[in-house]
Amino acid sequence: MNRQNVIDCIYLFAAVTFILALKGLSSPKRARAGTVVGAVGMVAAVGATFFTKVDGHTLQNLPLMIGAMVLGVVVAVPMSRFMKMTSMPQLIAIFNGVGGGAAALVSVAEFLHYDVAYLATYQVLEIVAGVLIGAMSFAGSAVAYLKLQELITGRPITYPGQQIVNGAIFLGALGLVAALVHSPSNVLLWALVGVSVVLGISFVLPIGGADVPVLISLLNSFTGLAVAASGFTLDSNVLIVAGTLVGASGILLTKLMSQAMGRSLPNILFSAFGSAVVADTSGGGEDRPVRAGTPEDIGVALAYARKVIIVPGYGLAVAQAQHTVRELAEQLQAKGVDVFYAIHPVAGRMPGHMNVLLAEANVPYDELKEMDEANAEMSTADVVLVVGANDTVNPAAKTTPGSPIYGMPIINADAAKQVVFLKRSMRPGFAGIENELLYDPKTVLLFGDAKDTLAKLVAAVKAS
Ligand code: TAP
Repeated sequence: MNRQNVIDCIYLFAAVTFILALKGLSSPKRARAGTVVGAVGMVAAVGATFFTKVDGHTLQNLPLMIGAMVLGVVVAVPMSRFMKMTSMPQLIAIFNGVGGGAAALVSVAEFLHYDVAYLATYQVLEIVAGVLIGAMSFAGSAVAYLKLQELITGRPITYPGQQIVNGAIFLGALGLVAALVHSPSNVLLWALVGVSVVLGISFVLPIGGADVPVLISLLNSFTGLAVAASGFTLDSNVLIVAGTLVGASGILLTKLMSQAMGRSLPNILFSAFGSAVVADTSGGGEDRPVRAGTPEDIGVALAYARKVIIVPGYGLAVAQAQHTVRELAEQLQAKGVDVFYAIHPVAGRMPGHMNVLLAEANVPYDELKEMDEANAEMSTADVVLVVGANDTVNPAAKTTPGSPIYGMPIINADAAKQVVFLKRSMRPGFAGIENELLYDPKTVLLFGDAKDTLAKLVAAVKAS
């Protein structure tokens, strides 16, 4: 076996680990192992690349490459370790953006490296695909980061005729691609870089902050495609495989998230969802009566229940109440109550948000039930404790055609014998719509920050 055969075998090994990593990441139990397997494959692939020979020569500029890698590690490791769980979408936006940017730069470097007059059409196409998609993904991810970090408004930024302007920019980019294929030149390439950046920015501006996680998943898929295009340009099988895997899994995740939100992808991308100002009904603006309870009463009801289902939502993350909710569940279990968590696929603001949050508090995986499994048991629950969730239990998704969430599968909390909501006010959730379940005669509201209320419930359960 010559040197290149060995490198190819290592690349094959890496590709297999990437597939195994994705498989692991599809379940909370195996996600950690999946990440480690993928990381081992990545280290092997990067390590093997250092032994590659290009046109008979070993790699040049080694100090520069190693310096860049050290810089990446120095920046990324502390960022990943110390970033709060609620800020994870921002982190992913940054990582995704630099990935897209790197793919675009590789394509630009390859273009400048060749004598453009001798480039075959398919080579130009590979390069411009990498530039267009990579630069767009970089710029779009940067704006997504700014929105999520609230450095610019999270509301959709719109203006009259925006779709037409965006369409024109897109057509302009396609025109440049056609011109480059016809007569490649450096000037046209730089023009394509500029237009792709503008396209990325203008594509993301009208998307509301809370829809941005879906967008990031889509941009992630774009980055994968840009990396695959670079793989063709560089003749690198491992980049082609890794890029295609990212592209495919990103698009699948985007589809699953849209489905779980009961909305189409075009609706998420082009409807400027969330631009209407939601009426703030807190502070008694709503006339209809609701039943407010006390932690002491609810504590007794929980302690004497046979089955309690906890439905966590975005408010659990805001309140950072994951440890306190686990404590309450343990208290109840110690009293012989059957307790589990019902997890809606888009509860919170990012995929797997509730799983990650509860895993951080060491809640056993087998106590987390997916929506369908939980719904099958809902009618046998004595109490459903809705902790900072709203849209994901809103019956309007089933009963009100025309509602923004109509068609979204929900956790059927309304089927339980008693429903207890832990929230701070009568304000709606992400979709900005009222929840009839709050006014249901079997619903009791415990107003206050979820962490404080849960702590009071723990004390009340202990005392009963
Ligand atoms: P939401 O419907 O957004 O409701 C969250 C509730 O938490 C609010 O009603 C809020 O009421 C309450 N809350 C906030 N802070 C709180 C605190 N400190 N203590 C107690 N309660 C608090 O949440 P959900 O049910 O998880 O639904 C998620 C929504 O986000 C869905 O519409 C989904 O489509 C959307 N979305 C999800 C994702 C992903 S991938 N997960 C991505 C984008 C969008 P108060 O203000 O009255 O406290």
